[in-house]
Amino acid sequence: MGIMILLIGGEKGGSGKSCLAQNTAVYLAKECGASVMLVDCDPQRTSADWAQTRGNNSKLTKINCVQMYGKIRNDLLSLQKAYDIIIVDCGGQDSLALRATLSVANYAMLPLRPKRRDLKTVSHMDELLATCQMINPDLKAHFVITQCPSLPNQAKRIWEAKEVCKTWGIPVLEGVTYHRNVYDDSEESGLSVIEQDSEGKASDEIRSLVNELMEVSNTEELATRFREQREQLGRGTYAISGSKEKAAYAIA
Ligand SMILES: Nc1ncnc2c1ncn2[C@@H]1O[C@H](COP(=O)(O)OP(=O)(O)OP(=O)(O)O)[C@@H](O)[C@H]1O
Ligand SMILES: [Mg+2]
Repeated sequence: MGIMILLIGGEKGGSGKSCLAQNTAVYLAKECGASVMLVDCDPQRTSADWAQTRGNNSKLTKINCVQMYGKIRNDLLSLQKAYDIIIVDCGGQDSLALRATLSVANYAMLPLRPKRRDLKTVSHMDELLATCQMINPDLKAHFVITQCPSLPNQAKRIWEAKEVCKTWGIPVLEGVTYHRNVYDDSEESGLSVIEQDSEGKASDEIRSLVNELMEVSNTEELATRFREQREQLGRGTYAISGSKEKAAYAIA
């Protein structure tokens, strides 16, 4: 496994893309020691604003973030020379940036709520993925069911949502996120759920989802993988770093 580009995308608005991108970024940087670049493709700047708010708090692990739009394939390929992992938060529609990212990404996580309107986008996403996989056959794409209702009598909805995804032949992660206020509350101050409540259920949801996607059994194993990747690339074990200058340089 070489360098990594992870897309968190999909065409449905509000499914939790930015939330998942931000929390994944913090998990990988803070607990797995990865140098992370978050790429925000949404003109609404959700992740960029979050990263900026976060940057004002020097106690937090820094998450670099740049905004990019359109044909970003080459920009992503340049960026990955400087970071262990590039996480791309791709906004609402079937955008050019979404397709450009799918053409180079190693992983894709496509959040969907267990709701009919979200599930209706699956057929179109399937077509989009099939097209992109023709030029990027190594892409590992998974749906993930987010903001699930926690009431036991609603469990069937989660199961049904997973079944819809499976019908289209796109893998769906076993792990889900439940609807929890901590997701909403943490992002307000530039935090992740891991910083808001590191022992909490939401933190474990994030860890489990990312570990499942990357096919490791625990955080330790994922950290080792990043370390080995750095060694292979002759980068040594440099600390989590990255300044705005470095980001600008990488894209130039
Ligand atoms: N598991 C969850 N539990 C509770 N709230 C959540 C959860 N996931 C996301 N949210 C909240 O739902 C709202 C929408 O999430 P988010 O902004 O991540 O969606 P998005 O897919 O990026 O939307 P957009 O398409 O507008 O970019 C946010 O307020 C976020 O805090
Ligand atoms: Mg968003």
